[in-house]
Amino acid sequence: MPEIDRATESDLDQIADLSARSGLAFWSREDYAGAAVSQNQLLLVARSASEGLLGFILVRLLASGTGTCDIEVLNIAVEPDHKQRGIGTSLIRSALEQGNTNPESQVLLEVRASNYSAIGFYRRLGFKEQSIRPAYYREPVEDSILFGARAGDLILNISLGAKEDAI
Ligand SMILES: CC(C)(COP(=O)(O)OP(=O)(O)OC[C@H]1O[C@@H](n2cnc3c(N)ncnc32)[C@H](O)[C@@H]1OP(=O)(O)O)[C@@H](O)C(=O)NCCC(=O)NCCS
Repeated sequence: MPEIDRATESDLDQIADLSARSGLAFWSREDYAGAAVSQNQLLLVARSASEGLLGFILVRLLASGTGTCDIEVLNIAVEPDHKQRGIGTSLIRSALEQGNTNPESQVLLEVRASNYSAIGFYRRLGFKEQSIRPAYYREPVEDSILFGARAGDLILNISLGAKEDAI
């Protein structure tokens, strides 16, 4: 069963590789190295002893003014063969737990308008569309959709399991 921890130096090559293969915005290994030691970013990995690194999430912690944090999900990706096992959901849940949020915290993210599977994933978790930024992304040029949710409204109770497990 995968465990979720802070990324370490030895994870950076695999994170950068998975990021590139997942079609995410152009984040280099150096960008992830900076994020791993940043005070206001949290880089977590899901890994299992037998299968290695299975996914990661990078979030920015935004001071909310109440001593807790709002969170912006900057990047999230799961190895293609390990999708639909609850790893993506668990990464978001862990980021909220480790990011010092409370139920009132805002959780924000931006996604390419054509990334239908991610949009479906976020909607199922309870994110609501807030606005569109026309032509925000490059290569190819594309609109971004900004999603947001109150942390306490998110549905994050999926458990990690094999793909065929009933949920
Ligand atoms: C978006 C992404 C991170 C989701 O990761 P994931 O690990 O597949 O997420 P989960 O398994 O938690 O949930 C995905 C789906 O699997 C389902 N699921 C979860 N556990 C399951 C299980 N044991 N059996 C069957 N289905 C399961 C969930 O209900 C969910 O369904 P939905 O997407 O139709 O709502 C992943 O698809 C990905 O890496 N995409 C490419 C990168 C990307 O686009 N990132 C977002 C950029 S903003």
